[in-house]
Amino acid sequence: MREAEELQVSGEPLSRRRLLVLGGAGAVWVAGARRIGHGSTMPRSEPAVLSSSNGRLHTELVAAPGVQLAGRATRALGYNGTSPGPTLRVRPGDELQLRLTNHLDAPTNLHTHGLRVSPEGNSDNPFVKVDPGSSFDYRIRIPADHPAGTFWYHPHHHTTTADQIFGGLAGALLVEAAHDPRVDHDRVLVITDTTLNDDGTVAEAGGMDRMMGRRGRLVLVNGLTRPTLTAAVGTVERWRIVNACASRILPLRLTGPGLMQIALDGMYLPQPRLVASLLLAPGNRADVLISAESPGQFELSADPYHDMDRKDTDSGKADPPISLAALTVNGTALRKPRLPATLPATFDPTGPVTGTRKVTLAMSMGDAGGLAGLGLGGMDMQWTIDGRQFDPARDDQTVRAGAIEEWTVVNDSPMAHPFHLHVWGFTVVADESGNLASGTPQDVVLVPAHGWVRIRVAFTRFSGRSVYHCHVADHSDDGMMATVKVAARG
Ligand code: C2O
Ligand code: CU
Repeated sequence: MREAEELQVSGEPLSRRRLLVLGGAGAVWVAGARRIGHGSTMPRSEPAVLSSSNGRLHTELVAAPGVQLAGRATRALGYNGTSPGPTLRVRPGDELQLRLTNHLDAPTNLHTHGLRVSPEGNSDNPFVKVDPGSSFDYRIRIPADHPAGTFWYHPHHHTTTADQIFGGLAGALLVEAAHDPRVDHDRVLVITDTTLNDDGTVAEAGGMDRMMGRRGRLVLVNGLTRPTLTAAVGTVERWRIVNACASRILPLRLTGPGLMQIALDGMYLPQPRLVASLLLAPGNRADVLISAESPGQFELSADPYHDMDRKDTDSGKADPPISLAALTVNGTALRKPRLPATLPATFDPTGPVTGTRKVTLAMSMGDAGGLAGLGLGGMDMQWTIDGRQFDPARDDQTVRAGAIEEWTVVNDSPMAHPFHLHVWGFTVVADESGNLASGTPQDVVLVPAHGWVRIRVAFTRFSGRSVYHCHVADHSDDGMMATVKVAARG
């Protein structure tokens, strides 16, 4: 049963699945596997898949330069030779046993973004440092009742995160469960952006890039420029879309079938909902269903996102939409695509609110001050939370384990910032526009320029120290990050 599903779900040839089965415990890395669809061989448009077996996924991720990107050999960064890295597929109750090996020229580490797992020791610990030339063994226990959905992994070493994500280091991490809706094809679309020099190296960020958050000239889907995705009439596809860009905000649109959203940040929505556009800040994920009803050529694109400052950085003119992928639907309908009528329930810990806090995102000015400073390159400004820059040794918030709190995240700056909290996640309960209360837990929320968002955080299940930060990687590297310590009582 699982085998048949796997075959259908990943769209990979039987021979590869056999290899995985023959591989026994753990998973086997099969490089250069090709997908076969409708009798023709085409270049693989998705990362390789490493699946858990017998309750564990035991594998190595080697971070190193030298990957194919946008159809050419580059010095961009990848895991196990590709960008994005392999898609990790696990199940609730599994243990992730990952050896991270650093063949980069700077320290790195690994964050399992969105997983509700322990932040301590060799679990999802953002304070770990893996030096060049060394390895670190992560062991991440995924609870048996962990939600099934789309998560991702990326480096999180303070001060090198933006360079490494922009360099290409990111991969999808899927938790799958028996109750997942049945679809004909389950795809991962990891969106990254970068800028390549002529010699294939990744462009360095300048001062303005670091202040505003660098955005790449290439916007890639699974490392490819505008890949063509092919679907058969009468089928339903699930697309797991990850915004793995270092700082680019993506308002996504799909012509034709449109986007039927079923999940946000790895959590199923109460019902599927057809959305005209899907706003994904860096770190956000959305799962959508594509119902291939009639043949045609459709387009997945990203509109520009403008808060007042970003517009000014691009010659004052509105950027055109970016074409991300083509969708070709062909064949003749034997049946209507069958969409799932209901979605699995999402866990959403509730209870009486035991405390409130306020967190303020801002920049502290140097002498230049104000927007004039931004125009001058912003060299003497710093991104802060509650007026301070990140200090990994300082406890910024101390919370009692089991507390359920409401935090008001205030953005006292002229740029939008995607606010992210590790491990615990949160539910948005209010914002200034009064229409954001989705009722679905998430882990990244875009706080508009000069706006605010109120979130409810259940500090249940896990204790330990972790971080919250802006997911514009340049901003968190600059200091827009803080620590939270969740301690058991007594
Ligand atoms: Cu996706 Cu703390 O990050
Ligand atoms: Cu920011």
